[in-house]
Amino acid sequence: MLAAAGSSIHAQDAPTPSGLRAVTYTRDVAPIIATRCGACHVPGGDAPFSLATFDEVRRRGAMIAAVTRSRFMPPWKPEPGFGQFEDERRLRDTEIATLAQWVERGMPAGATSKTRADAEAPRAPPVEASAGWGNRPPDLVLRLPAYALRAGGDDVFRIFSVAVPIASGRWVSGVFLRPGNRAVHHANIRVDRTGASRRLDEADPLAGYEGMIARSADFPDGHFLGWTPGQATAVLADALAWRLEAGSELVVQLHLRPSGKAETISPQIGLYFSDTPPATIPTAIRLGRQDLVVPAGAARHLVTDSYVLPVDAEVRAVQPHAHYRVRAMDAWATLPDGSRRPLIRITDWDMNWQDRYLYAAPFWLPAGTRLSLEYRFDNSEANPRNPDRPPTRATWGWRSNDEMADLWLQVLTRTDADRITLRREVGRKMQTEDAVGSEVLLQRDPNHVNLRNDAAGLYLALAQPAKALLHFAAVTALTPGSAAAWFNEGVALDALGRTDEAAARVTQALVLDPSYSPAHNNLAGLHLKAGRVSDARAGFERAVATDPRNADARANLALILAGTANADAALAEVAIVLEQKPDLLAGMTPMVWLLAAHPEPGARRPADARRLADRLVAQTGRRDAAALDVLAACHAAMGAFAVAIALAGEAESATPANQPLLRQAIRERLALYRTGKPYVLAP
Ligand code: HEC
Repeated sequence: MLAAAGSSIHAQDAPTPSGLRAVTYTRDVAPIIATRCGACHVPGGDAPFSLATFDEVRRRGAMIAAVTRSRFMPPWKPEPGFGQFEDERRLRDTEIATLAQWVERGMPAGATSKTRADAEAPRAPPVEASAGWGNRPPDLVLRLPAYALRAGGDDVFRIFSVAVPIASGRWVSGVFLRPGNRAVHHANIRVDRTGASRRLDEADPLAGYEGMIARSADFPDGHFLGWTPGQATAVLADALAWRLEAGSELVVQLHLRPSGKAETISPQIGLYFSDTPPATIPTAIRLGRQDLVVPAGAARHLVTDSYVLPVDAEVRAVQPHAHYRVRAMDAWATLPDGSRRPLIRITDWDMNWQDRYLYAAPFWLPAGTRLSLEYRFDNSEANPRNPDRPPTRATWGWRSNDEMADLWLQVLTRTDADRITLRREVGRKMQTEDAVGSEVLLQRDPNHVNLRNDAAGLYLALAQPAKALLHFAAVTALTPGSAAAWFNEGVALDALGRTDEAAARVTQALVLDPSYSPAHNNLAGLHLKAGRVSDARAGFERAVATDPRNADARANLALILAGTANADAALAEVAIVLEQKPDLLAGMTPMVWLLAAHPEPGARRPADARRLADRLVAQTGRRDAAALDVLAACHAAMGAFAVAIALAGEAESATPANQPLLRQAIRERLALYRTGKPYVLAP
């Protein structure tokens, strides 16, 4: 065999009779294989076999010609000319022709000996680079619990929740998954701070679970974390690090393909930390419809969506997501001047090769740009990727047999204020669509408690408490022994202003579970609303006693203490709150007012109040009118009127146009400071 290969080398290296230069492995084929296939087809790489040597390539020559001609390999789905991406793997037509020609002509090596041919071939990256951690070992390595994957059958989509053992929040500049087994086809990684994913995972006796991804599990700051074959360790610039809080879990969704033999799946995840907070925080924009219905047999069914950018945005990355029945997808931006810019186009959609694509040159789109998305479904028998024969009607859902039609974009904004605007607006769009999706799933499964709670939570966030109440009430009917169900119904009733009914529900929650701290807190809040201050105080105290870590209850208690002239006790509670949950400070502004401007002089603590207000102003980047306003009042209370006047002026100009009442109040206080008087709250 070796001798035969060697003898053909000399013959093929000579000029062919027609005078054309012969295509050889060493000169023509090896460089293509190394650069276009080497990210995966190396020993220990992500592909099922290596193509690193002449023998390995020659053995599969015919197959290589076939899979490159059909563009099945290398896997690269975006059409050229519709967005330029980093690490494009697409073969040029000439390269495909070269491979085909080489195979047709008998696969000549092109060097004097086989050993030499191999030595001269530009080598694929070393094994450690593609299958290992890259240049630098991660700062923290986590391992997913071992999952026993069956030998055969359909693909498995399994979700794992993994705790991250960090004592305090860290900035993360890289997350990398090592699949450890080729049955892992691709992975998405999200972050959940609520424990909801952990509970879903724990409810399944085996490692991981199947089904929906919890609403609270999200891509952090719009970073599409995950892994696809051939992906290099992606360590971000420190400028884009994202915050991972202590107590968070990574939620890892694995697409697994049974290999013919039973396997143990246990990928590792490496985390890279950065000491510097990011200079800019990205935002994720999701387009996509959840009310889609693809009729059985429909060969050309379009699903479209669009979104108009409220602010300028720089587009950095794109990630389309759909399931099996899609044939093609297209996304583009229509600028305010009417010009059109492609974002991405895929004309041969393959569920198996989904990726996130980074733009080679990120670009700005002005406010007013319309982002458009179109998916073309083929739910006919003619679609070889149709999972159902005969075809069946398909609707939105998490199961791979359901359909999706999403597109994620990662963008940066010019300012923090723009980012907050975009996040709010796009968040509303996404939550509205998520609520639609919840209703779709509930039609199929009306007694699914988690889905009902999910839907209700979305409606509360969308300020639609009446719809939230319908779902929460349904949950109470399904699980009358659950304290949480009664509690939630109380929250929706409270949001509707039906306080007496709300109190009755929360009371029932406490009958079922007397140590339910959030219920004590909410019941106390209802007392406070009704003016029953001492009942409220007792309730907040019980909430703190049943759970000393209930920072919300403690903050409420501090407010009551400050209001009832117990300033020192209030400050003691505040110290604990700030230790437990520093971002609650903004919600404690009314208490800071009491400490600065209580009607009874003996109940004031202006110096302490100023300390808190200083912190609040810093937390809000000196741009929040309410924070500047209360800081001004603190200075005035201490007799520093010049400072108070300057701060109140700042507060006035920081007031948003839609808050005329706040602006008026600030102006009145400013007038007071100008006459050398502090502001005092009415008794
Ligand atoms: C991003 C990683 C990656 C790159 C780059 C890549 N492959 Fe593959 N290749 C795979 C994986 C993974 C498989 C296994 C099949 C699957 O998962 O669908 C595969 C399978 C194959 C097969 C077997 C196809 C079959 O029907 O069984 C051939 C042949 C092949 N690749 C050739 C190539 C060639 C030639 C190149 C470069 C021009 C290339 N591949 C580039 C990952 C890659």
